[in-house]
Amino acid sequence: MTGRSSQDWRKLTLGVVGLGLIGGSVCLGAAGFRGASRFGSIIGFDADPQARAQAVELGLVERCAPSVPELVQEADIIMLAVPVKAMGQVLRACIELGEQPFAGKIVSDVGSVKASVRACFEAALGGMPASVVLGHPIAGSEKSGVFAGRADLFVNHKVILTPLENTDVDAVAQISALWTLLGADVLEMTVEHHDRVLASTSHLPHLIAFSLVDTLAVQDDSLDIFRYAAGGFRDFTRIAGSDPVMWHDIFLENKTAVLESLELFSKDLQRLRTAIESGDSEQLLGVFTRAKAARDHFGTMLANKPYRQKMTSRELKFVAGPATQLSGAIRVPGDKSISHRSIMLGALAEGLTTVEGFLEGEDALATIQAFRDMGVVIEGPEAGSVKVHGVGLHGLKAAPGPLYLGNSGTSMRLLSGLLAAQQFDSVLTGDESLSKRPMKRVIDPLGEMNALVESENDGRPPLKISGKRPINAIHYDLPVASAQVKSAVLLAGLYADGETSVHEPAPIRDHTERMLRGFGCEVLTEGPVCRLRGGQKLTACHIDVPADISSAAFFMVAASIAADADVTLKHVGVNPTRTGIIEILRLMGADLQVSNEATVGGEPVADIRVRSSRLKGINIPPALVPLAIDEFPVLFIAACCAEGKTVLTGAEELRVKESDRIQVMADGLLELGFASKVTSDGIEIEGRGATSDPVFQSGSVDSHGDHRIAMAFSVAAIRAGGPVTIHRCANVATSFPDFPGIAANIGMQIDITDAEL
Ligand code: S3P
Repeated sequence: MTGRSSQDWRKLTLGVVGLGLIGGSVCLGAAGFRGASRFGSIIGFDADPQARAQAVELGLVERCAPSVPELVQEADIIMLAVPVKAMGQVLRACIELGEQPFAGKIVSDVGSVKASVRACFEAALGGMPASVVLGHPIAGSEKSGVFAGRADLFVNHKVILTPLENTDVDAVAQISALWTLLGADVLEMTVEHHDRVLASTSHLPHLIAFSLVDTLAVQDDSLDIFRYAAGGFRDFTRIAGSDPVMWHDIFLENKTAVLESLELFSKDLQRLRTAIESGDSEQLLGVFTRAKAARDHFGTMLANKPYRQKMTSRELKFVAGPATQLSGAIRVPGDKSISHRSIMLGALAEGLTTVEGFLEGEDALATIQAFRDMGVVIEGPEAGSVKVHGVGLHGLKAAPGPLYLGNSGTSMRLLSGLLAAQQFDSVLTGDESLSKRPMKRVIDPLGEMNALVESENDGRPPLKISGKRPINAIHYDLPVASAQVKSAVLLAGLYADGETSVHEPAPIRDHTERMLRGFGCEVLTEGPVCRLRGGQKLTACHIDVPADISSAAFFMVAASIAADADVTLKHVGVNPTRTGIIEILRLMGADLQVSNEATVGGEPVADIRVRSSRLKGINIPPALVPLAIDEFPVLFIAACCAEGKTVLTGAEELRVKESDRIQVMADGLLELGFASKVTSDGIEIEGRGATSDPVFQSGSVDSHGDHRIAMAFSVAAIRAGGPVTIHRCANVATSFPDFPGIAANIGMQIDITDAEL
């Protein structure tokens, strides 16, 4: 019941039993932050007569009832904020009101162990009344008592409600609305689930903190220990200052679940002890890097950032402004394709692979997480450095659950090939966009290799991959020009007896082949065919990841279309299978100069200087399409700013990327007053370069959660008449974290807002 108005609350009396920290804070929160009560009346009761008097004096309640039954009679909503141990007594006292003391009332509680509160109700009243909604606010402080109450104690804290099957839905809605009024986020789960979750996340940490402080406190030199205790000790043991009696009760009441998590923890602690004893660095680093990753992930989850399970309740919005002058030299983040492959091949290699310039974007992080889940120790990323402790071709272990790959098509397709050849089964899942993307293109060739990759969703994720199947070498004629499919086949081919070969219908990126060679594998390329013998060992190496040409592309177009621009993009990967963007822009008349050419780890790199130019429309040669496949969203913006017509054909693949990039771009352009003609495999854009400035109207576009669409429209804003608002930009972090920050370095202005959806 979210729609309750303040008028509704004012007709009600709130009764709070127990006026300590939690109960007192409920009273203060319900009274409203400026003391103007949101309720008709707030009354209280506490077993301690002194607390009752103080509560009135402090203004927590208007008055106190002389007994619990009298409070129950008067109140409409009753909050039982008493320790779980006292609950039985409170409920028994209510029996004097009759068999159904809570008839017509709505009742809730705040106890930390829900099964024992439920048992108290059952014992006292013979069952759970439908109007009782058990709950637990995950908020507190080490302080207790009437004086500890705070009106904002629950603001932005979780409250878990644990309704039973017979609980009245309206009662749940009312209690939920009450907690929302106090500023809390309300969620629901079963009693059993609540008690298990809390045993691990709250009860066990308290037990460990109490125990550690006690262990150190009774040592002879305890004074010194505490005097010199580092910040870590203080942070870690803060919760040992909590109320001993309350925690004593909690451990005994949630005995089964607490013992279960204590058992797990004790085993893991014992394993760490053995690892330290035997100097097992792999085991230690494995635990610590996994824990760090999990803790960081937890941090991003709490900050509502999109890593792993995406937070759908928030959206990032970009507001990009027009610009005339762009200048400076920037290095964009590392290449996404190469970053993914550095982790995959590093994990399968023998020895320690070191990576520099790694892209710390969500997609590549998803690949890291997947390999950590499969037991690979990966240190970092730390300022672009990653260390992968390779486990060898046969060293991966089954992940404890499905591998979640976020938005990353590359992770899913390449991992399909690799996992099809393992001795264990795997499940691959992804976010909403990835779950719509076609996977039959890898399922089919892998099937020909005797692998079993299944989708229950018409060839779309989740994918179930069966292990323990011998992989056959094949020759595969790629029906689509896809580097991801080629790579999936080659990775599976590493495990086959004999030679696997792949024919590509048009040149496509060859990072997998180049990197395999870097790891000491023999991969032969003869024209459109590449070949790989199975069973070859990979030897760890160093990988220097160049800046991603796909990210640099946004600034190539930005500098080309801005009135006065001179921008240099440093250390960009210019592998000839990726330079379609440079060739297409040059055909359009762009001023691009390539210098400082070098080769790092088998990949060519160069600096690219871009200056303003008068672009002209062209027919994009179909042969260049696969070589610029990720750059079309921003190329469409270039076409709009060119003189004359640009025609793209043979690009139907764009319809199955992170979004339907042809339609979504055309829709966004229209929102900015620019009509284009969509065709089945491309688009026709009549450029306005010569006739109109600004080229675009100010307006609002939906990126459909597609990173490259969001960045393309940020570039369009350069030539817009006013700000361009771009919705659903959180996924920009998949390939280009801090895009607005780096864009600002050359003079583009992109403001970010983090809004509720
Ligand atoms: C990629 C290949 C391309 C590209 C994607 C990354 C890769 O996809 O669009 O962003 O890393 O192999 P396709 O191979 O499906 O064309």
